[in-house]
Amino acid sequence: MDKLIIRGQKRLKGEVTISGAKNAALGVLPAALLLSDVCTIENVPDILDISILRGIMESLGAQFENIDRNTIRIDTRKVNSYMATTPDMHKLRGSYYLMGALLGRFKRAVVTFPGGCNLGVRPIDQHIKGFEALGAKVEIEHGHIKLSANKLTGASIYLDVVSVGATINIMLAAVKAEGLTTIENAAKEPHIVDIANFLNAMGADIKGAGTDIIRIRGVKSLKGNIVHNIIPDQIEAGTFMIAAAATRGDVLVKNVIPKHMESLTAKLIEMNVRVEEFDDSIRIYVKERLSKVNIKTLPYPGFPTDLQPPAAILLLQAEGISTITEGIFENRFQYIEELKRMGANIRVEGRMAVIEGRCKLSGAPIKALDLRAGAACVIAALVADGETELTNVHYLDRGYENFVEKLGKLGADIKRVENNKC
Ligand code: UD1
Repeated sequence: MDKLIIRGQKRLKGEVTISGAKNAALGVLPAALLLSDVCTIENVPDILDISILRGIMESLGAQFENIDRNTIRIDTRKVNSYMATTPDMHKLRGSYYLMGALLGRFKRAVVTFPGGCNLGVRPIDQHIKGFEALGAKVEIEHGHIKLSANKLTGASIYLDVVSVGATINIMLAAVKAEGLTTIENAAKEPHIVDIANFLNAMGADIKGAGTDIIRIRGVKSLKGNIVHNIIPDQIEAGTFMIAAAATRGDVLVKNVIPKHMESLTAKLIEMNVRVEEFDDSIRIYVKERLSKVNIKTLPYPGFPTDLQPPAAILLLQAEGISTITEGIFENRFQYIEELKRMGANIRVEGRMAVIEGRCKLSGAPIKALDLRAGAACVIAALVADGETELTNVHYLDRGYENFVEKLGKLGADIKRVENNKC
């Protein structure tokens, strides 16, 4: 297992280019299974979650060809299995999109329960409610979810919780169902729009993606030979924006859609961080002292829960006491124990973290407990005095393309070493 060695207190300076969105790509690739044809996907991030998903799709008969590092051609004509039950299914959350995609293609799917970061209980009852409403029979057996339908028929579905995964999964299953499906209280994240755009380019009829009511009129068939370009990763962009501010650096974050970043930029401005927006880039720099703020994570367009752990590091640098309230997941403050080893003064009260600012972090051996917690640990190490050793680096590989290289180019003193070579 590799680890990162980071020497802190270097200001990040320069330019960084953001990769394609992990969570969009995790939906777009399975969506290609609704086709029996060829399509080309551009701006696919070269990250572990995508290569695992690709392997699972290959086991179903899909063929992948890399045109270049971030452009792939997918041929789904030979897909002949609806059984996605390899052990790799547990390695990521996004594997759950194979339920909607295989159900939509074969009217049948046998899929292992998804994995992903441990953020507390992560039920899939809303996905199942949606599939059942479309006419699927759902059985849970030996850790597998078995879906089957004679026919899928459009239905009106109200989500009891705003769920990104359920919204996308129901959209996938409904694309070729007979008649009209309506998803009310749908999630509005940018990648839902991206996946809907990809499906519409294939000939689907989806309206309202990006609002809380999505209407999907079923179509009989879809056409391939399309090229789709995945949107930039809002969370990777936010991670670099926060890292720039936390190190009091000056960074131009390129290949972003500034509108997707509004909840973060609003908080950064409230904290006195300088934010300059351009068409597809954002410059972040700091001149004044940082002010305390209170943050609550919410579904989009609210503050993203995936930026909550990185944001905590920034609040440790602010004047006074800030709070973060986690509004999405029940157990997303585990990383704080790691930060305490570096001297962070943070108290967790239920769903709220109370963060004392002007904190002098010092380098320490710490471990990444999940993907975004890992990103927070890296930012903490960039700010800290002295050397930090970060283990469990594979979590970062799941979601950040070239993270170490990108930070190195911005002036961070960071290197990756094999654990037993140090
Ligand atoms: C997705 C993202 C994850 C992000 C999260 C919230 C992927 C692969 N993962 O996760 O990075 O942090 O959105 O933006 O895209 N819930 C239920 N029942 C369900 C589904 C969800 O109760 O059937 C609850 C969850 O426990 C959670 C909330 O709804 O409290 C939101 O979850 P959801 O939006 O579904 O998140 P994920 O799709 O798991």
